[in-house]
Amino acid sequence: MIIDDDKTLPASSPPRPQARPTNESPIEAVTRMAGGFAMTQVLHTAVQAGIADCMGDRQCTAEELGSALQLDVRSLARFLRMMVVLDLLVQTGPERFELSGAGQLLRADHPQSMRERILYIGAINYPVASAAIHSLRTGETAFEHVFGVPFFDHLAQSPSLSGAFNGLMQRGIEARVAGVLGAYDFSGVRHIVDLGGGNGALLSAILSHAKETSGTIFDLPSVIAEARRRIAGSALAGRLDVVEGDLFAGGYPVGADVYIMSNIIHDWNDGQAEALLRHCAEAMRGNSELLLIEEIMPVEVIDSPSTVANDYSMLLLTGGLERSEEEYKALLARSGLALSKVTPFVVSSNDQRRKGRWALLHCHGN
Ligand SMILES: C[S@@+](CC[C@H](N)C(=O)[O-])C[C@H]1O[C@@H](n2cnc3c(N)ncnc32)[C@H](O)[C@@H]1O
Repeated sequence: MIIDDDKTLPASSPPRPQARPTNESPIEAVTRMAGGFAMTQVLHTAVQAGIADCMGDRQCTAEELGSALQLDVRSLARFLRMMVVLDLLVQTGPERFELSGAGQLLRADHPQSMRERILYIGAINYPVASAAIHSLRTGETAFEHVFGVPFFDHLAQSPSLSGAFNGLMQRGIEARVAGVLGAYDFSGVRHIVDLGGGNGALLSAILSHAKETSGTIFDLPSVIAEARRRIAGSALAGRLDVVEGDLFAGGYPVGADVYIMSNIIHDWNDGQAEALLRHCAEAMRGNSELLLIEEIMPVEVIDSPSTVANDYSMLLLTGGLERSEEEYKALLARSGLALSKVTPFVVSSNDQRRKGRWALLHCHGN
Protein backbone atom coordinates (compact mmCIF):
# COMPACT_ATOMS: atom_id res chain seq x y z
CA MET A 1 0.00 0.00 0.00
CA ILE A 2 1.21 3.48 -0.79
CA ILE A 3 0.40 6.03 1.87
CA ASP A 4 0.40 9.46 0.29
CA ASP A 5 -1.17 11.46 3.08
CA ASP A 6 0.34 11.85 6.54
CA LYS A 7 -3.18 12.03 8.04
CA THR A 8 -3.02 8.22 7.89
CA LEU A 9 -0.27 8.20 10.57
CA PRO A 10 -1.49 7.00 13.97
CA ALA A 11 -2.56 9.86 16.22
CA SER A 12 -0.01 8.72 18.82
CA SER A 13 3.02 9.47 16.53
CA PRO A 14 5.27 11.97 18.32
CA PRO A 15 5.78 15.26 16.50
CA ARG A 16 9.07 15.34 14.57
CA PRO A 17 11.45 18.26 15.06
CA GLN A 18 11.87 20.27 11.87
CA ALA A 19 14.94 22.13 10.61
CA ARG A 20 12.76 25.00 9.43
CA PRO A 21 9.05 25.77 9.46
CA THR A 22 7.22 24.45 6.44
CA ASN A 23 3.67 23.89 5.32
CA GLU A 24 4.74 20.68 3.59
CA SER A 25 3.61 17.42 5.14
CA PRO A 26 6.36 14.84 5.88
CA ILE A 27 5.20 12.72 2.95
CA GLU A 28 5.19 15.69 0.59
CA ALA A 29 8.68 16.66 1.80
CA VAL A 30 10.18 13.19 1.29
CA THR A 31 8.43 12.79 -2.08
CA ARG A 32 9.93 16.09 -3.23
CA MET A 33 13.40 15.13 -1.95
CA ALA A 34 13.26 11.68 -3.53
CA GLY A 35 12.54 13.29 -6.89
CA GLY A 36 15.41 15.76 -6.53
CA PHE A 37 17.56 13.76 -8.99
CA ALA A 38 15.20 14.67 -11.83
CA MET A 39 15.40 18.40 -11.07
CA THR A 40 19.21 18.42 -11.06
CA GLN A 41 19.40 16.44 -14.25
CA VAL A 42 16.70 18.34 -16.16
CA LEU A 43 18.65 21.52 -15.43
CA HIS A 44 21.93 19.86 -16.42
CA THR A 45 20.51 18.35 -19.62
CA ALA A 46 18.86 21.64 -20.65
CA VAL A 47 22.20 23.44 -20.29
CA GLN A 48 24.18 20.66 -22.01
CA ALA A 49 21.74 20.81 -24.93
CA GLY A 50 21.93 24.62 -25.11
CA ILE A 51 18.14 25.02 -25.05
CA ALA A 52 17.95 28.34 -23.17
CA ASP A 53 20.72 29.95 -25.24
CA CYS A 54 18.98 28.89 -28.44
CA MET A 55 15.54 30.11 -27.34
CA GLY A 56 16.65 33.48 -26.00
CA ASP A 57 13.55 35.69 -25.82
CA ARG A 58 11.72 33.81 -28.60
CA GLN A 59 8.82 31.39 -28.47
CA CYS A 60 9.94 28.10 -30.07
CA THR A 61 8.65 24.68 -31.07
CA ALA A 62 10.48 21.39 -30.60
CA GLU A 63 11.00 21.22 -34.40
CA GLU A 64 12.71 24.62 -34.49
CA LEU A 65 14.94 23.85 -31.50
CA GLY A 66 15.63 20.28 -32.61
CA SER A 67 16.92 21.31 -36.01
CA ALA A 68 18.99 24.20 -34.63
CA LEU A 69 20.53 22.04 -31.88
CA GLN A 70 20.64 18.74 -33.82
CA LEU A 71 18.51 16.89 -31.28
CA ASP A 72 15.90 14.15 -31.73
CA VAL A 73 12.68 16.16 -32.10
CA ARG A 74 10.32 13.63 -30.49
CA SER A 75 12.53 13.21 -27.40
CA LEU A 76 13.05 16.96 -27.23
CA ALA A 77 9.28 17.63 -27.34
CA ARG A 78 8.84 15.39 -24.27
CA PHE A 79 11.80 17.01 -22.54
CA LEU A 80 10.38 20.51 -23.14
CA ARG A 81 7.14 19.46 -21.45
CA MET A 82 9.19 18.28 -18.45
CA MET A 83 10.82 21.72 -18.36
CA VAL A 84 7.29 23.16 -18.11
CA VAL A 85 6.60 20.85 -15.15
CA LEU A 86 9.64 22.36 -13.40
CA ASP A 87 8.58 25.93 -14.29
CA LEU A 88 11.65 26.46 -16.46
CA LEU A 89 9.48 26.92 -19.56
CA VAL A 90 6.02 28.40 -20.07
CA GLN A 91 3.76 26.72 -22.63
CA THR A 92 2.35 29.44 -24.88
CA GLY A 93 0.52 27.19 -27.40
CA PRO A 94 -0.08 23.47 -28.06
CA GLU A 95 3.58 22.97 -29.13
CA ARG A 96 5.12 26.37 -28.36
CA PHE A 97 7.27 27.30 -25.40
CA GLU A 98 9.20 30.25 -24.00
CA LEU A 99 11.64 30.60 -21.12
CA SER A 100 10.18 31.43 -17.69
CA GLY A 101 12.03 33.78 -15.30
CA ALA A 102 13.82 30.75 -13.82
CA GLY A 103 14.57 29.35 -17.30
CA GLN A 104 16.23 32.66 -18.28
CA LEU A 105 18.93 31.94 -15.66
CA LEU A 106 20.11 29.01 -17.83
CA ARG A 107 21.24 31.43 -20.57
CA ALA A 108 24.97 32.18 -20.81
CA ASP A 109 24.26 35.86 -21.51
CA HIS A 110 22.05 36.45 -18.45
CA PRO A 111 23.72 38.79 -15.90
CA GLN A 112 22.92 36.31 -13.13
CA SER A 113 23.52 33.24 -15.29
CA MET A 114 23.59 29.93 -13.40
CA ARG A 115 24.78 28.00 -16.44
CA GLU A 116 28.32 27.35 -15.15
CA ARG A 117 27.05 26.36 -11.73
CA ILE A 118 24.62 23.86 -13.26
CA LEU A 119 27.28 22.35 -15.55
CA TYR A 120 29.65 21.98 -12.61
CA ILE A 121 27.03 20.46 -10.29
CA GLY A 122 25.94 18.01 -13.00
CA ALA A 123 29.49 16.93 -13.79
CA ILE A 124 30.91 16.85 -10.24
CA ASN A 125 28.48 17.12 -7.33
CA TYR A 126 25.82 14.84 -8.81
CA PRO A 127 27.94 11.71 -9.41
CA VAL A 128 29.88 12.32 -6.18
CA ALA A 129 26.68 12.69 -4.13
CA SER A 130 25.50 9.31 -5.41
CA ALA A 131 28.62 7.72 -3.86
CA ALA A 132 28.22 9.39 -0.44
CA ILE A 133 27.76 5.99 1.18
CA HIS A 134 31.47 5.37 0.43
CA SER A 135 32.40 8.36 2.62
CA LEU A 136 30.10 7.18 5.37
CA ARG A 137 31.53 3.66 5.33
CA THR A 138 35.22 4.53 4.99
CA GLY A 139 35.75 8.17 5.96
CA GLU A 140 37.38 8.66 2.53
CA THR A 141 36.21 11.14 -0.09
CA ALA A 142 33.45 9.97 -2.41
CA PHE A 143 35.17 12.08 -5.08
CA GLU A 144 38.27 9.89 -5.33
CA HIS A 145 36.10 6.77 -5.25
CA VAL A 146 34.19 8.05 -8.31
CA PHE A 147 36.92 9.82 -10.30
CA GLY A 148 40.03 7.90 -9.18
CA VAL A 149 42.07 11.05 -8.44
CA PRO A 150 41.81 13.86 -5.86
CA PHE A 151 39.48 16.77 -6.58
CA PHE A 152 42.04 19.42 -7.60
CA ASP A 153 44.02 16.92 -9.74
CA HIS A 154 40.81 16.20 -11.65
CA LEU A 155 40.14 19.92 -12.21
CA ALA A 156 43.72 20.42 -13.43
CA GLN A 157 43.11 17.76 -16.11
CA SER A 158 40.04 19.53 -17.53
CA PRO A 159 40.34 23.17 -18.63
CA SER A 160 36.55 23.51 -19.04
CA LEU A 161 35.79 22.17 -15.54
CA SER A 162 38.61 24.23 -14.05
CA GLY A 163 37.23 27.34 -15.79
CA ALA A 164 33.72 26.58 -14.46
CA PHE A 165 35.09 26.05 -10.93
CA ASN A 166 37.12 29.28 -11.02
CA GLY A 167 34.04 31.12 -12.31
CA LEU A 168 32.03 29.76 -9.37
CA MET A 169 34.73 30.83 -6.93
CA GLN A 170 34.72 34.28 -8.54
CA ARG A 171 30.96 34.62 -8.01
CA GLY A 172 31.46 33.76 -4.34
CA ILE A 173 34.23 36.34 -4.03
CA GLU A 174 32.07 39.01 -5.66
CA ALA A 175 29.45 38.36 -2.97
CA ARG A 176 32.06 38.50 -0.17
CA VAL A 177 34.39 41.29 -1.26
CA ALA A 178 32.44 44.22 0.20
CA GLY A 179 32.29 42.37 3.51
CA VAL A 180 36.05 41.68 3.44
CA LEU A 181 36.90 45.31 2.59
CA GLY A 182 34.63 46.45 5.43
CA ALA A 183 36.24 44.03 7.87
CA TYR A 184 39.90 44.97 7.23
CA ASP A 185 41.68 48.22 6.38
CA PHE A 186 44.14 47.36 3.59
CA SER A 187 45.17 51.00 2.98
CA GLY A 188 48.58 50.93 4.75
CA VAL A 189 49.53 47.46 3.52
CA ARG A 190 52.56 47.26 1.19
CA HIS A 191 52.34 43.71 -0.14
CA ILE A 192 49.73 40.93 0.01
CA VAL A 193 50.18 37.27 -0.95
CA ASP A 194 46.92 35.44 -1.74
CA LEU A 195 47.65 31.73 -1.21
CA GLY A 196 45.35 29.60 -3.38
CA GLY A 197 44.19 32.91 -4.85
CA GLY A 198 42.56 31.26 -7.89
CA ASN A 199 42.12 33.52 -10.90
CA GLY A 200 42.96 36.59 -8.78
CA ALA A 201 39.43 37.96 -8.37
CA LEU A 202 39.80 38.72 -4.65
CA LEU A 203 43.26 40.25 -4.80
CA SER A 204 42.30 42.34 -7.85
CA ALA A 205 39.31 43.74 -5.92
CA ILE A 206 41.50 44.53 -2.89
CA LEU A 207 44.21 46.22 -4.99
CA SER A 208 41.59 48.28 -6.84
CA HIS A 209 40.60 49.60 -3.42
CA ALA A 210 44.12 49.94 -1.88
CA LYS A 211 45.94 51.96 -4.56
CA GLU A 212 49.45 51.81 -2.98
CA THR A 213 49.41 48.06 -2.35
CA SER A 214 50.97 45.34 -4.53
CA GLY A 215 50.12 41.67 -4.52
CA THR A 216 51.07 38.12 -5.52
CA ILE A 217 48.69 35.30 -6.43
CA PHE A 218 49.99 31.82 -5.53
CA ASP A 219 48.20 28.83 -7.03
CA LEU A 220 48.59 25.67 -9.11
CA PRO A 221 50.10 26.14 -12.61
CA SER A 222 46.80 25.37 -14.41
CA VAL A 223 44.99 28.07 -12.40
CA ILE A 224 47.82 30.59 -12.59
CA ALA A 225 47.55 30.37 -16.40
CA GLU A 226 44.00 31.78 -16.10
CA ALA A 227 45.09 34.42 -13.55
CA ARG A 228 47.87 35.51 -15.92
CA ARG A 229 45.40 35.95 -18.81
CA ARG A 230 43.08 37.96 -16.55
CA ILE A 231 45.78 40.32 -15.32
CA ALA A 232 47.53 40.90 -18.66
CA GLY A 233 46.60 44.30 -19.98
CA SER A 234 44.53 45.20 -16.89
CA ALA A 235 45.15 48.39 -14.92
CA LEU A 236 46.61 46.25 -12.10
CA ALA A 237 49.28 44.55 -14.24
CA GLY A 238 52.13 46.61 -12.68
CA ARG A 239 51.09 45.84 -9.08
CA LEU A 240 49.93 42.24 -9.33
CA ASP A 241 52.16 39.26 -10.07
CA VAL A 242 51.70 35.50 -9.99
CA VAL A 243 53.63 32.51 -8.64
CA GLU A 244 53.01 28.91 -9.67
CA GLY A 245 53.34 26.56 -6.74
CA ASP A 246 52.01 23.73 -4.64
CA LEU A 247 50.62 24.74 -1.25
CA PHE A 248 51.80 21.41 0.18
CA ALA A 249 55.38 21.85 -1.07
CA GLY A 250 55.84 25.18 0.76
CA GLY A 251 58.15 27.83 -0.66
CA TYR A 252 55.55 30.58 -0.21
CA PRO A 253 56.79 34.11 -1.04
CA VAL A 254 58.41 35.41 2.16
CA GLY A 255 57.99 38.59 4.16
CA ALA A 256 54.64 39.94 2.90
CA ASP A 257 52.69 42.24 5.25
CA VAL A 258 49.53 40.24 4.75
CA TYR A 259 48.91 36.64 3.65
CA ILE A 260 45.39 35.68 2.65
CA MET A 261 43.95 32.17 2.60
CA SER A 262 40.38 32.56 1.40
CA ASN A 263 38.31 29.40 1.29
CA ILE A 264 41.49 27.32 1.53
CA ILE A 265 41.72 25.80 5.00
CA HIS A 266 38.18 24.38 4.81
CA ASP A 267 39.28 22.30 1.80
CA TRP A 268 41.57 20.14 3.93
CA ASN A 269 41.52 17.76 6.89
CA ASP A 270 43.29 18.80 10.10
CA GLY A 271 46.67 17.25 9.24
CA GLN A 272 46.74 18.83 5.77
CA ALA A 273 45.48 22.20 7.05
CA GLU A 274 48.18 22.19 9.73
CA ALA A 275 50.86 21.56 7.06
CA LEU A 276 49.67 24.58 5.01
CA LEU A 277 49.52 26.85 8.06
CA ARG A 278 53.03 25.79 9.11
CA HIS A 279 54.36 26.67 5.62
CA CYS A 280 52.68 30.06 5.96
CA ALA A 281 54.15 30.63 9.44
CA GLU A 282 57.61 29.93 7.95
CA ALA A 283 57.10 32.61 5.26
CA MET A 284 55.80 35.24 7.70
CA ARG A 285 58.14 37.81 9.25
CA GLY A 286 57.84 40.07 12.35
CA ASN A 287 54.57 41.90 11.80
CA SER A 288 53.20 39.73 9.00
CA GLU A 289 49.55 38.88 9.41
CA LEU A 290 47.60 35.94 8.01
CA LEU A 291 43.91 36.49 7.21
CA LEU A 292 41.78 33.39 6.90
CA ILE A 293 38.47 34.02 5.16
CA GLU A 294 36.19 31.15 6.09
CA GLU A 295 32.71 30.19 7.14
CA ILE A 296 32.26 29.48 10.83
CA MET A 297 30.46 26.26 11.68
CA PRO A 298 27.41 26.91 13.89
CA VAL A 299 26.54 24.83 16.94
CA GLU A 300 22.88 24.67 15.87
CA VAL A 301 22.32 23.67 12.23
CA ILE A 302 19.43 26.09 11.99
CA ASP A 303 21.81 29.04 12.51
CA SER A 304 23.51 28.47 9.15
CA PRO A 305 22.19 25.58 7.04
CA SER A 306 24.32 26.65 4.05
CA THR A 307 27.52 26.31 6.13
CA VAL A 308 26.43 22.82 7.11
CA ALA A 309 25.69 22.03 3.44
CA ASN A 310 29.19 23.23 2.49
CA ASP A 311 30.67 21.07 5.24
CA TYR A 312 28.91 18.05 3.72
CA SER A 313 30.30 18.99 0.27
CA MET A 314 33.80 19.15 1.74
CA LEU A 315 33.35 15.69 3.26
CA LEU A 316 32.50 14.25 -0.15
CA LEU A 317 34.77 16.31 -2.43
CA THR A 318 38.10 17.02 -0.75
CA GLY A 319 37.95 15.54 2.75
CA GLY A 320 37.94 19.03 4.28
CA LEU A 321 35.47 20.49 6.78
CA GLU A 322 33.93 23.69 8.07
CA ARG A 323 35.22 24.52 11.56
CA SER A 324 33.97 26.38 14.61
CA GLU A 325 35.91 29.36 15.98
CA GLU A 326 37.33 27.13 18.73
CA GLU A 327 38.47 24.54 16.19
CA TYR A 328 40.28 27.25 14.18
CA LYS A 329 41.93 28.53 17.35
CA ALA A 330 43.21 25.05 18.25
CA LEU A 331 44.32 24.30 14.66
CA LEU A 332 46.26 27.57 14.46
CA ALA A 333 47.93 26.97 17.84
CA ARG A 334 49.10 23.52 16.68
CA SER A 335 50.54 25.18 13.54
CA GLY A 336 52.67 27.81 15.30
CA LEU A 337 50.15 30.66 14.84
CA ALA A 338 47.81 32.56 17.16
CA LEU A 339 44.26 33.69 16.45
CA SER A 340 44.19 37.34 17.54
CA LYS A 341 40.76 38.50 16.35
CA VAL A 342 37.66 37.26 14.54
CA THR A 343 35.69 39.79 12.47
CA PRO A 344 32.37 38.45 11.19
CA PHE A 345 31.13 39.98 7.96
CA VAL A 346 27.98 39.77 5.89
CA VAL A 347 27.84 38.34 2.38
CA SER A 348 25.78 40.19 -0.20
CA SER A 349 23.30 37.73 -1.61
CA ASN A 350 19.63 37.97 -2.41
CA ASP A 351 19.27 34.41 -1.26
CA GLN A 352 19.20 34.35 2.59
CA ARG A 353 19.67 30.59 2.56
CA ARG A 354 23.08 30.89 0.87
CA LYS A 355 24.56 33.67 3.01
CA GLY A 356 26.41 31.52 5.55
CA ARG A 357 28.31 32.80 8.59
CA TRP A 358 31.51 34.31 7.25
CA ALA A 359 34.41 35.78 9.20
CA LEU A 360 37.90 37.17 8.79
CA LEU A 361 40.23 35.35 11.18
CA HIS A 362 43.29 37.50 12.01
CA CYS A 363 46.36 35.36 12.77
CA HIS A 364 49.92 36.18 13.87
CA GLY A 365 53.08 34.21 14.49
CA ASN A 366 53.61 32.97 18.06
C1 LIG B 1 38.16 26.62 -2.90
S1 LIG B 1 39.26 27.42 -4.01
C2 LIG B 1 39.39 29.03 -3.30
C3 LIG B 1 39.75 30.07 -4.31
C4 LIG B 1 39.76 31.51 -3.77
N1 LIG B 1 40.82 31.70 -2.81
C5 LIG B 1 38.42 31.86 -3.17
O1 LIG B 1 38.38 32.50 -2.13
O2 LIG B 1 37.37 31.54 -3.73
C6 LIG B 1 40.79 26.65 -3.60
C7 LIG B 1 41.97 27.17 -4.39
O3 LIG B 1 43.13 26.49 -3.95
C8 LIG B 1 43.89 26.10 -5.07
N2 LIG B 1 44.68 24.90 -4.73
C9 LIG B 1 44.20 23.67 -4.44
N3 LIG B 1 45.21 22.83 -4.18
C10 LIG B 1 46.34 23.54 -4.32
C11 LIG B 1 47.71 23.22 -4.17
N4 LIG B 1 48.13 21.99 -3.84
N5 LIG B 1 48.62 24.19 -4.40
C12 LIG B 1 48.23 25.45 -4.76
N6 LIG B 1 46.93 25.82 -4.89
C13 LIG B 1 46.00 24.88 -4.68
C14 LIG B 1 42.86 25.84 -6.14
O4 LIG B 1 43.42 25.87 -7.43
C15 LIG B 1 41.86 26.95 -5.87
O5 LIG B 1 42.19 28.12 -6.58
